[in-house]
Amino acid sequence: MTTVTDQRPLRTAIFPGSFDPLTNGHVDIIRRALRLFDQVVVGILVNVSKEPTFTIDERVAIVREVFQGEARVEVETFEGLLVDYARRRKATAIVRGLRAASDFEYELQMAHMNRNLSPTVETVLLMTDASNTFISSRLVKEVFSLGGEVGAFVPEAVERRLHEAREATRGGPRVVR
Ligand code: PNS
Repeated sequence: MTTVTDQRPLRTAIFPGSFDPLTNGHVDIIRRALRLFDQVVVGILVNVSKEPTFTIDERVAIVREVFQGEARVEVETFEGLLVDYARRRKATAIVRGLRAASDFEYELQMAHMNRNLSPTVETVLLMTDASNTFISSRLVKEVFSLGGEVGAFVPEAVERRLHEAREATRGGPRVVR
């Protein structure tokens, strides 16, 4: 058996996305990435053009709460090109999740563009658990807004905040009702 004297640099992966909100599918991908990398940085895109359900600070707080006690998961926001952010973080890989073949074309296109922009950063596509294949942030918000239960699809920290947002805006027009 070979013994490794571990002097190699940390292997860091960026897991970028909107995370509005974080779902069980995202959590699953982060846990899978932790098996392959020393550190996983969840990079939440600051996207001024979208109307988010959760503010960027809330989305950061959710990831922190879900992964509290897991020192190898970091969360922060980023603006601009993902490859520039990956370079700044000295990440060797960009991790993205695949639920179904329908995700693949979009992910392949992004991976090739990112490779073109920065040939040294690899994109690693990880398959989510089969039980998560139908979960998306968009559908979670839609189901919740129409009175459905979403506890099976998102971490407790997200479900709680969805209910809090609904309570806080009772009587007024809201994104999360
Ligand atoms: O969760 P999402 O919304 O599918 O994530 C998309 C994301 C954030 C990965 C993508 O929009 C992105 O990387 N944006 C940063 C800007 C950029 O680098 N664009 C070129 C990527 S090909």
